[in-house]
Amino acid sequence: MTNANHPIKAPKKLIEVALPLDLINVAAAREKSIRHGHPSTLHLWWARRPLAAARAVIFGQLVNDPSWRWELDHPGQPVPGHLKGGHANARRHLFKILEDLVLWENTTNEVVLERARAEIRKSWRETCEVNADHPQAAELFNPDKMPGLHDPFAGGGAIPLEAQRLGLEAFASDLNPVAVLINKAMIEIPPKFAGRPPVSQSLGNSGKAKSGQVEMAGLEVPAKGRGKKKAAGSAEAAATAGKAWSGATGLAEDVRHYGAWMRTEAEKRIGHLYPPIEVTAAMAKERHELKPYVGQSLTVIAWLWARTVKSPNPAFRHVDVPLASTFMLSSKEGKEAWVSPIVEGDSYRFTIRVGTPSEEAKNGTKLSRGANFRCLMSGAAIESAHIYTEARQGRMSSRLMAIVAEGDRGRVYLAPSAEAEDIAKLAEPTWKPDLLMPENPRWFSPPGYGLTNYGDLFTPRQLVALTTFSDLVSDVRDKVRSDALAAGLPDDPLGLDAGGIGAVAYADALSLYLAFAIDRVVDRHSTIATWDSSPSKLQLRNTFARQAIQMTWDFGEGNPLCDSSGTFGPSIEWVAMAVDSLPKLQTAGSAAQANAQVQSISTGKFVSSDPPYYDNIGYADLSDFFYVWLRRSLRAVFPTLLATMAVPKAEELVATPYRHGSKDKAEAFFLDGMTSAMHSLAIQAHPAAPLTIYYAFKQSDTKSESGTGSTGWETFLEAVHRAGLSLTGTWPMRTELGNRMIGSGTNALASSIILVCRPRPADAPTTSRRGFLRELNLALPAALDEMTQGIDEHGKKQSPVAPVDLSQAIIGPGMAVFSKYAAVLEADGSPMSVKTALQLINRFLAEDDFDHDTQFCLHWFHQYGWNEGAFGEADVLARAKATAVSALAQAGVIHSAAGKVRLVKPADYPADWDPEDATRIPIWEALHQLIRAFREGGETAAGTLLGNPEVRGKAEAARQLAYRLYTLCERRGFAEDARAYNELVTSWDAIEAASTSNAPAPAPAPRQQTAQGSYR
Ligand SMILES: C[S@@+](CC[C@H](N)C(=O)[O-])C[C@H]1O[C@@H](n2cnc3c(N)ncnc32)[C@H](O)[C@@H]1O
Repeated sequence: MTNANHPIKAPKKLIEVALPLDLINVAAAREKSIRHGHPSTLHLWWARRPLAAARAVIFGQLVNDPSWRWELDHPGQPVPGHLKGGHANARRHLFKILEDLVLWENTTNEVVLERARAEIRKSWRETCEVNADHPQAAELFNPDKMPGLHDPFAGGGAIPLEAQRLGLEAFASDLNPVAVLINKAMIEIPPKFAGRPPVSQSLGNSGKAKSGQVEMAGLEVPAKGRGKKKAAGSAEAAATAGKAWSGATGLAEDVRHYGAWMRTEAEKRIGHLYPPIEVTAAMAKERHELKPYVGQSLTVIAWLWARTVKSPNPAFRHVDVPLASTFMLSSKEGKEAWVSPIVEGDSYRFTIRVGTPSEEAKNGTKLSRGANFRCLMSGAAIESAHIYTEARQGRMSSRLMAIVAEGDRGRVYLAPSAEAEDIAKLAEPTWKPDLLMPENPRWFSPPGYGLTNYGDLFTPRQLVALTTFSDLVSDVRDKVRSDALAAGLPDDPLGLDAGGIGAVAYADALSLYLAFAIDRVVDRHSTIATWDSSPSKLQLRNTFARQAIQMTWDFGEGNPLCDSSGTFGPSIEWVAMAVDSLPKLQTAGSAAQANAQVQSISTGKFVSSDPPYYDNIGYADLSDFFYVWLRRSLRAVFPTLLATMAVPKAEELVATPYRHGSKDKAEAFFLDGMTSAMHSLAIQAHPAAPLTIYYAFKQSDTKSESGTGSTGWETFLEAVHRAGLSLTGTWPMRTELGNRMIGSGTNALASSIILVCRPRPADAPTTSRRGFLRELNLALPAALDEMTQGIDEHGKKQSPVAPVDLSQAIIGPGMAVFSKYAAVLEADGSPMSVKTALQLINRFLAEDDFDHDTQFCLHWFHQYGWNEGAFGEADVLARAKATAVSALAQAGVIHSAAGKVRLVKPADYPADWDPEDATRIPIWEALHQLIRAFREGGETAAGTLLGNPEVRGKAEAARQLAYRLYTLCERRGFAEDARAYNELVTSWDAIEAASTSNAPAPAPAPRQQTAQGSYR
């Protein structure tokens, strides 16, 4: 977007030089366990990035690195010593700001935030200053108006939200209307109404509010057995009178108030479908623990059902037998409860038992994984084929197994009754979602069992409840509109969608938050939601316990009017708390629906984005589950955004074979689409800052053919390269909780890698494969050293990259070399693919060329040099490298005693070593014996050793290892060790000659040649 004849001066950014990675990782992982008041609780979205990571990345991307002025004035020249100290101090200052900035506790700490904003503004002014003479300065470098930040794959909105928090105008776009709504709720709506007192409070203080007060007073005393008092109503509003309503807190208060009104209304309309249950003396006859409840009416939390099919046994063909994956109701110690079926003739009934459960109780009628059950009547196996047939022929039904009620001492489990079943049948929905689920069993298994439509995922009673709440959205909208007018909001006829800012728009805004609360209820009120009997839960799970809709056999039908988790009241509070926590600054934000391949929103803006990870998550398909409800509730508010029957799928940049016809076609679609999306960013983004792009890995991704990543990762990088971007930094970030990070063969996202990119100059040169390799040899040792040691080029400590992330992290500096060229040309003139480049880069790290013992030693040396480390760590590492500490000690490469382990130094290797006697000779040992021999007897002694057939077979690998260790030691300043390896390598030809003949050895090669010798 700049004039090619007038290149702009783009200061180097902090993220292109250094980041306190471990601090960011810890904060990001910690944040994942925070729920209360986290903006992510507004609405479910899949694979959200932690806010801490997004905030740190944006800060690092926009703040100038202290070396920027030197780098601009002396491109390519190392920073002179007298400046390094000052730069390091200044960097430390920025790190300190980041350290505070990433903490969850500081997300609304204006002092901390303002410190970060001030640095960003300062960097912007510096950039404007050095570009003041640029012909486009007026347009591009206005020191008083910083560009906004755009995320074209905004999803759950972490990046735009953090941009806004950091004082930038935030722009979010996404193809998916649900994501667009989430972003509107987070960054677009709150600034419009920021600082306003709640409409409900204004009314509460005026005479006109009298009727409202009566209405709300009704809610202050909940119906008998219907849960506790909730924070809502004019009494509360009155209590908050006089409070300063900063940021979106007024809006949040209205969410509470009008949500409470909706709940009261819903109770009037559907309360009869959720009657309390009276505990009778008969019920308590064999259940002593029920005695204190006799005569009491308890609020029902959930009715638990089992799906049924006709028995496969001809003798019981007329019986609908239960498919229950468990009979457990509570696994809480001392409070265990389960469903116990009693077979009577050719029928059965369910009773509840307490005490120590049997194995059978845990397994229900399930025999094995998948749809494999046993017939309760005959014991015969019910095979999946039978269930498929029954389900597809519409003969799958359901039977009530248990009722869970709320007692004053915890959950009370009661046997089902005919009355309870009958009440459920009373429900007659007038609407249900009418949209087919995709035929993609990877993410959607219910269609395989005849539940093909989203509408099939709900019981009639659930449908009645959800449509009632949905209807109430338009009622509440009318109510808010008139209340807002009465409270003095402008009588602006324009709605939110048309840019309104008055009463109509306010009513629209509230209906969005209230519809989000309904979606929280939808998530817990489908037949995919099962009962969680684990001790700390004892509640319904949500539909999206996984990133898929998976068939369930037993399920819970919750009471949306009670106060249990996932019901309407608490959902309102979750949404309100999330709104409360939104940034207090009134910086504008906007969210729009746009296909990232063709959007022009990025023009002149900074860009940070987190695109889809190849085939990991089917956002569009999954979000239809919510979209159908949001569309029903909000179509009048967002007529264009919610115009289509379903979420748009065709342009979604997800490599789904089922949608594109084959794996290859899906890959081609992803590559082309991502290339054009990235290209459009490369040409539009503001040139003063690099772009930052996230990519998240699956555990399984690290095991690809090339050992460098997955098809997804390779394809993604290929797209970035083809789009004309070159890499100026990469940061592997751990953004998941520890237990998920380690993974368990699942596809849990393990780690994100942040790519820092700048557009490649149009006149970027090409290079040869040889030239590329030469540069890799120069660049990677230093990079590897910095990553593993946590020592930067100036010798200052920084965060080390976790060893497990190393193979991903090394890609960064490697791809930085690759991507600065327009092309790396193979011998035949064809451009090298990213896949090949990744293989070459990763070969640098590959320890596979070495035996397991050597792999251990190399890894240990990286970490400890010749120093001691704990036995435990050595043990873990040895196991990971398929060897053992004892074997390593026996081979003579380590010394292990008193809980400590260290590598044996070359000088301590035994001089009387006879390779013929050794049972195993690690390359590590061979190399260090060669060094010892060389030291003691020069080329002749080393040559003699090399001539031994046992050692000769390891010659090339030993030389490679010496090279690796030389570069490593030199970087670390282990001068003596470096010299030893270097001498061996420089004398290699002579040693080889000495090993094969008595002929005089050739003169050693010049030293620097070896240092630059290629590793392949
Ligand atoms: C990894 S998610 C973003 C997650 C987000 N950073 C967060 O923290 O929640 C990727 C997003 O890309 C969106 N997407 C997929 N294809 C798209 C396209 N062609 N144009 C715009 N957005 C697209 C998906 O809807 C999804 O929301």
